[in-house]
Formats: sequence, structure tokens, C-alpha cells
Amino acid sequence: MTLYGGIRSWSLGLLLVVLSAVTLHQSVAADAPPTGAPSTSAPPHKAPGRPERGNYTVNNNGTICLMARMGLQLNISFNSASQNKTVLDVVNLQPNVTKSTGSCDTDKASLLLTVDGDKTNLTFSFLLNSTSDKYHLSGVSLSALWPDMSKPFLAENNSLEYLHGTLGRSYMCREEQTLDVVESLSINTFQLQVQPFGLTGDQFGAAEECQLDEDDMLIPIIVGAALAGLVLIVLVAYLIGRKRSHAGYQTI
Ligand SMILES: *[C@@H]1O[C@H](CO)[C@@H](O)[C@H](O)[C@H]1NC(C)=O
Ligand SMILES: *[C@@H]1O[C@H](CO)[C@@H](O)[C@H](O)[C@H]1NC(C)=O
Ligand SMILES: *[C@@H]1O[C@H](CO)[C@@H](O)[C@H](O)[C@H]1NC(C)=O
Ligand SMILES: *[C@@H]1O[C@H](CO)[C@@H](O)[C@H](O)[C@H]1NC(C)=O
Repeated sequence: MTLYGGIRSWSLGLLLVVLSAVTLHQSVAADAPPTGAPSTSAPPHKAPGRPERGNYTVNNNGTICLMARMGLQLNISFNSASQNKTVLDVVNLQPNVTKSTGSCDTDKASLLLTVDGDKTNLTFSFLLNSTSDKYHLSGVSLSALWPDMSKPFLAENNSLEYLHGTLGRSYMCREEQTLDVVESLSINTFQLQVQPFGLTGDQFGAAEECQLDEDDMLIPIIVGAALAGLVLIVLVAYLIGRKRSHAGYQTI
């Protein structure tokens, strides 16, 4: 084998490695946001898996005025009747047994999710600042009466600053995000997209992505740039190798 052939097969091999790394990364990235809940045989009270994504809307005189698409997980500590102590429970909201209602005003909107009859009432309140045309999630309240609760669980916080968006646009966060409400309640959101104001028809406005998603985007960009650099090096090495072999070894 000539030096030329050696360099050629060496660079082809490296190129193959780079290409397979690229495809591998792409397939991993494509797998990243799984949708449905894989809660096949998980025990009901520990690690319930990713919640299923629900579609929730609020109507005002027959037109949709608030729209939310998200998976929700409640992280709640309450007094257990059977164990007579405070226990932590992580519960996924099941969209097929969750009803959405609510209200819409010019600068206030709320989404009320009622689960399983009336055992769980979860309210999200949004405020719009009409000067700056910015909205945010300002309040969350939860009332729940689950079988093991010694008394109804009530939690409310109306001074929250989450999900900041612009009027006419939607707020989006594909990554898991934790909304701390009070000490005994936090809510994990999954693949969230919400628009509480300025909807036209039943379509979300342009999405404004959360910081978590933007950080996540950075990794493929860095990996891609590194791979592109590697490809360039291989190409240059190959061209130099070919030139050298043309000059010195071609007649061997
Ligand atoms: C639930 O909240 C507790 C305490 O706030 C925390 O330690 C735990 O990691 C949370 N679990 C999940 C699944 O978010
Ligand atoms: C609305 O936004 C303006 C401009 O950013 C700000 O000065 C004002 O305090 C905000 N109003 C409320 C109620 O937050
Ligand atoms: C949820 O709201 C309904 C209707 O307002 C009410 O009848 C029910 O008692 C509430 N459930 C809890 C657990 O607070
Ligand atoms: C309500 O939320 C704010 C902002 O996250 C927090 O500072 C405050 O402590 C919360 N209130 C309660 C009663 O936990």
C-alpha cells in the first residue's frame, strides 16, 4: 500500500467515525423529548415517570381566550392519615380525567384544572401589564382532598413571577421546569406551551422559549462546531497527504 493509500483510508476511517458520531448525536437528540407517559408498571406513589401532556383551553363567549399544552406533576407534602405524619407525594395529572375552565379579562386570566370529579382543584392565574404588554404567571392555588389526607390540602401563592411572555405570543419550555409555589407544594412542568392573552383563533402565537431550552440548544451547537472543525482537519490532512504522494511516491 502506498503512503497515499494509507492516508486516504486513514482519513476515510476518521470521516466515518465523525459521520457516525453526528448521526448518533442526532438520533439521541431526536429521542430527547419523549411524549406519552411510560408509567407501565411503576408503583403509584414513587417516581411516577413523565406526565402525559394535556391540552387545556378556556373559552370566553365561545372563543378560546387561553390555551395551555403541558404535562403537569404535583410535588406535595401533606399529613398522611394512615401514617400520622407528613409525607411527600409526587403525582402526575392525567389529562383524560382533567377538565379545564377559567376566566379571561383584559389584564387577568385564569386556568382552573379540576381533576377526577372535584378531588383536586388547581388554578393558574396570569397577569398582563398593559403598559409593557408583558404577561406572567402570578398565582397558583391548589386544593385537594385525596384518600389519605387527614384534612383538605390548601396552598396558594399570589406573588409568583413565572412564565414571562409578551402579549400575542406564547411562552414555551420543552425542558422540565419547577415552579415553587409554597414550601409544601411545587409543580414540575413538562413540554409546556401557554398563551393566556392575545390569542387569535385556536393557534398559539410565536413562541418565546425559556432559558432552559436555550441552554439545551447550546450543546448541539458546540458539538456540531467541534465536529465541523474535525472534518476540516481531516480534509486538510487528506489534501496534504494527496499532494505529497503525488510529488514523491506516485511512481513507486
Ligand atoms: C419534590 O420536592 C422535594 C422537596 O421539596 C424534593 O426534594 C424532591 O426532589 C421533589 N421531587 C420531584 C420529583 O420533583
Ligand atoms: C408595567 O410595566 C411598566 C413598564 O415596564 C412598569 O413601570 C410598571 O411598574 C408595570 N406595572 C405593574 C403593575 O407591574
Ligand atoms: C373543587 O371545586 C369544586 C367546585 O368549586 C368544589 O365543589 C370542590 O369541593 C373543590 N374540591 C376541593 C378538594 O377543594
Ligand atoms: C410565594 O412565592 C414567592 C416567590 O417565589 C416567595 O418568595 C414566597 O415565599 C412565597 N410565599 C409563601 C407563603 O411561600
